[in-house]
Amino acid sequence: MEQQTDFLIIGSGISGLSLALKAARLGTVTLVTKKQRLDTATNLAQGGIAAVLSPEDSFAAHIADTLSAGAGLCHEDVVKMVVETGPDRVRELMTIGVDFQKVATDRELDLGREGGHSMRRIAHTMDRTGSSIEESLLKKAAAEPRIIILENHLAVDLLLASKAEQNSPAGSPKNADQPAGPPFTDRCLGAYVLNRLSGKVETWKARVTLLCTGGTGKVYLYTTNPDIATGDGIAMAYRAGARVANLEFVQFHPTCLYHHRVKNFLISEAVRGEGGRLLDHQGRPFMSKYDPRGDLATRDTVARAIDLEMKASGADYVFLDISHKPAAFIQKRFPTIYQTCRDLGIDITREPIPVVPAAHYMCGGVLTDLMGRTDIENLYALGETACTGLHGANRLASNSLLEAVVFAHRAAEQCTADWPRLAKLTLPEIRPWRADRAKPIEEAVLISHNWDQIRRLMWNYVGIVRSEKRLNLIREQLGPILAEVEHHYQDYLLTPDLVELRNISLVARLIVHCALQRKESRGLHYLIDYPELNDRDWKKDTIITRN
Ligand code: SIN
Repeated sequence: MEQQTDFLIIGSGISGLSLALKAARLGTVTLVTKKQRLDTATNLAQGGIAAVLSPEDSFAAHIADTLSAGAGLCHEDVVKMVVETGPDRVRELMTIGVDFQKVATDRELDLGREGGHSMRRIAHTMDRTGSSIEESLLKKAAAEPRIIILENHLAVDLLLASKAEQNSPAGSPKNADQPAGPPFTDRCLGAYVLNRLSGKVETWKARVTLLCTGGTGKVYLYTTNPDIATGDGIAMAYRAGARVANLEFVQFHPTCLYHHRVKNFLISEAVRGEGGRLLDHQGRPFMSKYDPRGDLATRDTVARAIDLEMKASGADYVFLDISHKPAAFIQKRFPTIYQTCRDLGIDITREPIPVVPAAHYMCGGVLTDLMGRTDIENLYALGETACTGLHGANRLASNSLLEAVVFAHRAAEQCTADWPRLAKLTLPEIRPWRADRAKPIEEAVLISHNWDQIRRLMWNYVGIVRSEKRLNLIREQLGPILAEVEHHYQDYLLTPDLVELRNISLVARLIVHCALQRKESRGLHYLIDYPELNDRDWKKDTIITRN
């Protein structure tokens, strides 16, 4: 089945929805999302969105904090652009209905603080910021007739002009106006998309395709991410020949709830921002041993400190304690965290919370320019899928929702400028997905075994503290797993689990590849064989392509 749309957006988080609302002014928008529309990392985000929103704050301070967290790898032009245009994007979210918390009855925003920020600058809706943004965007999108949201539609691979030309005797039609912009390596024409309900792979042709698929947390055994975070956008872009970068910089959130009944519940960094302290099993605070900023150090430092404390004591977790604050304040400021812990028998107004670090955010991704464009013409990457240059070697807390809205706006501006050319594009014929020889997979264990193996290997060998020995070992072990997955992909009819397994296995290999290249310790990449920063050789991005 072949379908056509002007904009094909893959992913229903903040990037995809923000872009959809703007792109609908130009043409038709089809937003595909692989499960339900609310199954996004955005929807789980607790902390908030960082921006200069108070007269005491300044662009210079937000820029300095972002650069300092990024440990020398942020692109300063990108940081400046994001920080300086951020406040407008936050106000735009307010106009579409996001009700950020105000100070008492005033109009002034109640700004929160998180690790690495020298000022209070996080706009939030208590600990439900992500879901309030997601709901407002979805409500607005539902009222827009040119936006169609297709749930249970999982993108498999991109449609490329180079392949269409090979498959069509006439070649693909040449379009007269060539775009001004980066030297593109290919042209994207849409994507093959697996309809989970029918089991069929649909051909979706599009003038512009946008990868907004979120992050890669499911590559690891323990993660704060939702189940959808299988690196689909990064894997598809890499397979299509686009450059990806900085995949060694995996951010581990220091404080994921440790409890056998829940698998990925975050205890927001805002808890430390409001005075929460990390304690060992003897009830002793330990962060001041590691950083003069104590509990408000950046995440790389805090996660590593917890890892060291756990290894030294043999404990499976540490504690985060906010119980010294008034109970009424805790219940009002952290309603979700309070209630979730309460339901598990932990009263955070009286006792400390058991926490462990868990994979949280991919700072690298598909390389883009300042407009969100990738190496492939008419293919954009936004949000966690992208590597824009904002985060460098370590993302500053709450800069991710900001990056998403700023780059969605930039991409929309670029599409508007290109529209006279895009509207005239003739999209070539695409050969339908062929599955003639494929058979149904009979043993689900073929998928689940590899899935578990990869995630456990990544957790044990490519975690917070790395060694060359373990990185080399995992590289060897991933090779045969990848080959096996590729065989399954050739032999069996596609299932969502197989598509995701193919993506996490590729992304795992790319993370290891990047980690092995960087012979130093910087930001989130700590390699015991090279514990020092090496600016002379490594003050640069780790960029890789399929070729
Ligand atoms: C948190 O609330 O701690 C998460 C915020 C973020 O990842 O920026």
